[in-house]
Order: sequence, then structure tokens, then C-alpha cells
Amino acid sequence: MDGTGESTQDWGVFGRPIFEDAAARKLSRVGVVDVGSNSVRLVVFDGAARSPAYFYNEKIMCSLGAGLSDTGKLNPEGRERALNALKRFQEIASNICDDPLTAVATAAVREAEDGPEFCADVLRETGLNIHVIDGEEEARLSAQGVLLGWPGSYGLVCDIGGSSMELAEMSHGKIGKRVTSALGPLKLRDVAGGAEGRAAYIRETLDQLKEKMGEQEDRLFLVGGSWRAIARIDMERRNYPLRVLHEYRMSAEDIRKTAAYIQAFDPEELRQRCGVSSLRMSLIPMAIEVLIGVCERFDPHDIAISSYGIREGMLYEQMSDKLRDRDPLIEACRFAESKDARLPGFGKSLFDFVRPLFPDAGRARLRIIKAACLLHDVSWRAHPDYRAETCFDYATRANLGGLGHDERVALGLALLHRYRNKREGTRFEELISLLSDEEIQQAEILGKAMRFGAMLWMKKNAETGQFDYDPDKGALKLTLPASAASLYGEVAAARLKSLADAMGADLEVISL
Ligand code: LMR
Ligand code: MG
Repeated sequence: MDGTGESTQDWGVFGRPIFEDAAARKLSRVGVVDVGSNSVRLVVFDGAARSPAYFYNEKIMCSLGAGLSDTGKLNPEGRERALNALKRFQEIASNICDDPLTAVATAAVREAEDGPEFCADVLRETGLNIHVIDGEEEARLSAQGVLLGWPGSYGLVCDIGGSSMELAEMSHGKIGKRVTSALGPLKLRDVAGGAEGRAAYIRETLDQLKEKMGEQEDRLFLVGGSWRAIARIDMERRNYPLRVLHEYRMSAEDIRKTAAYIQAFDPEELRQRCGVSSLRMSLIPMAIEVLIGVCERFDPHDIAISSYGIREGMLYEQMSDKLRDRDPLIEACRFAESKDARLPGFGKSLFDFVRPLFPDAGRARLRIIKAACLLHDVSWRAHPDYRAETCFDYATRANLGGLGHDERVALGLALLHRYRNKREGTRFEELISLLSDEEIQQAEILGKAMRFGAMLWMKKNAETGQFDYDPDKGALKLTLPASAASLYGEVAAARLKSLADAMGADLEVISL
């Protein structure tokens, strides 16, 4: 037995909620600083410790690495701006963080002659001790950030900054070989010999990286602001309906097409349409040349954008193994339930109730069902006319990790049907096109089952009814306990009928 009075087994495959655990709570306001070659950034994480919310997030584009190849020094104007940014970050952190900030600096500060002097200035003026990390450590932290969102994953993590590019191998959630290179766009800008000289330099460097890393044909995870900007443009080219970058997928062919698309358009117009800063836009032609080369060398079977990188990796560093093993999606949904649902804890009963309707669901689908049950009531405060929309937006736009775009939309659609029978005519039709017909039907069934279940047992640990579903016979049976008899009114009966219709099943109700 644990402190909640329930045994651990009662919680099933996803385990007991952990965010009230003292060790997890301790991580509730963690502040980290990343002094990069392009940007200097403060992130303060908060909330469900395994899947943190961004309590505070500020970025300043200081371009510390600009001109470094010529002068050997940090960009003087950037240095001044970075120092001011860090003063501000320290002040903010002193107000909102429980513990001191953890700060790391990457390529620009590590390579510049005046890097140590800059760190000394920062220490003297702000009290912040910057850890200057080497390229392999940079690669490791950024791969750890990826693991925060994709526990147990396989693949190659590629992190591009201003002055460097790192690769790290991951298998079964463990980080293996790592390498660093000078393939950051600020460096490439200064390579002699114009476009040809640069192309040759990229080719040679990538050949060396390939030599060190060996064959890597799993997924390629892309980390870094320049890759994210390329993904934005790729979305624009494909007219992609969802705006979430995390978990956005591309193929090597998409990247080649996007490179051609960028060349064909006026950069100023394109960057405005995609919401990319001018500074970033100027780096993209170099970055995409590197990305095409990475794809040619490693031939990944799929490419995914990770919004999680070095900063999330620093948070992961502070987590216990127990916490790392948790499912980021389920933890985030549990946290949302505990904070916003009318009956925290009821999501678990609802999951147990609807579970027999999905006899063929594997683990991946079950976790989406579980997530939907946990979130089924978190939008109850919204105006009734907008609840369905609010739910859908919540799932499709929320800052959730461990969730593919198709899964996000399936979750949103299930929540939409938790409030409404029809999906036609909503402003979400475009997004629903990301799902197959079968996925749409499953989401509808889940939504309607939650809609029915939520009406019958408005209490935690209630004695719920029992569904028996035989897909071969197309037979759905509900056995209701005597305690539910008065709750099973005509609206509930109509909801149950609508569920059976969505399943194409014959319905039988037995009252005990
Ligand atoms: C950097 O080097 O600054 C990067 O990690 C992030 C960026 O903004 O490109
Ligand atoms: Mg960086």
C-alpha cells in the first residue's frame, strides 16, 4: 500500500500517478539557461514533472557566434546583449524558481578566445556560473531532451546550433556514440570559396561524421531553431493543417522539395508568411544544404522534429530513473485532470468502463484512450456552446509530449464527440483529414462512450456498469448495477443507442 491507500497494482499498466511524489514535486520549478551561438534562452519548467509545462520561456537572438571564424572572438555586440539577458534571467529566476538556475554554454563560448572572460563577467555581474560544455556533452544533453518526449526510442539525434552541429545515436532509450562538427550556419557563412567552397566543406565534414557514426537508418530526430524554421516552411509548402512543430514528420524528399521551394520564393515574403525572423531566414539556405547532406548519408526511414533539446535534456538530467520511465503523455493528462476536472480520479473509472469496447486495441491505442478519459472533463468550465471546440483545441494544440500528430487529432476528435454527435461542419474538418476512416470511427466510438459514461456515474470509485462486446457477432451488452437504475434516464439511453449505432452493433441492456 502507498500513501493513497491503494495498492500499486490497482493502477494497471500505466502505474500510479507520480506528480504528488515528493521527489517529483521537487522538480516543479526548474530553471535552465542555454547560452547558444545563435540564441540565449531561459526556460522555467513547471507542473507534472515527467511532462513539464513551460512556466516561463524567453529567447534573445544574440548571435554570439557571428564573425567568430574571422576574429576568434565572440560577437562584441552579442556579448553585451547576452550579458544583459543573463542579468534579466537571474532576476526573473530569483522570483519564480525554487533553486538556482543551471546554465550551459555551447559552441561559440567554448571556442572563442574571450569565452572564459565572458563567463567571468557573467559570474561577477550576475552570480550565475556558466558550465561551458564540449560538443559530445552538447550532443548527449540534446539527445536526452529527445528522450523526454520519446522514451525508449531508436534513432539519430541531429542538433543544429549557430556554430556547431551534433549527432547522437540512441537505441532503446540509451544514448550511444556522439560527435560534434562545425556545420553550424554561422560558421558555414564564413567558409572561403563561395557556394562551391561551402558545398565541398559540407561534403567532406559529413563524410567524416558518417565514418565515425556508421550506418544509422532509423528515425532522424531534428533539434534546433534552424531545423524548426525549415519545418515551418515545409508546412507552408504542403499546406499542412496543424501548426504544432513537435513531432512534425518529413521525408528526405520533402526536404529536397522545400529547398527548391525556398529558392523559388522571395525570402522576405516567405519568412513573413511562415513567421520566421530575418536573422533566422538568412541562416536557412546553409542549414538546409546540411540537412540534405545528412539525409543522403544516413538515409533515415523517417524524420521528426523535436521541440525538446538541450534545455529539456537538462531537466531530464535531474530526474530519477523512476520518473524517466513514466509515460510523458499520461503524466501530463493526469496532471490536467487533477487541476481542472470536476471529479479528479474519475478518468480512471471511465477508462476501465470503456476498455471492453476496444478488444483489439494495442498499447499505442490504449494510451490514447487513457489520455482521452483523463481529459474528458477538463474543459467543463467553457461555455456549453464551445465545449466541444475547446476540447478539440486542447488536444490538438496543447503542449503535450509523446504524441504524434495523428494521435493528437484522434484524441481531439474523441473529446469533440464527448460533447457532440456530429463533426461535420466544424472548423476542424481539415485536421480530421489526417486520420484514416477507421481511426475516425474509433475516435467517435470513444467519444460517445465517454459521453454516456460521464452521465451515469458522477462519483469516483462508483460501481459502474459492465460492457460486453462481441465484434464478430456485432453484439453490445451493457449490464447495469441496481445503483445506476435511476441515473439511466432517457437521455442516457439515447446516448447509449448513439454509441451502439456508431459501432454498428445490436444493443442489449440488462438491469440488475
Ligand atoms: C544556438 O546555437 O543558439 C541553438 O542551440 C539554438 C538556435 O537558436 O539556433
Ligand atoms: Mg544550441
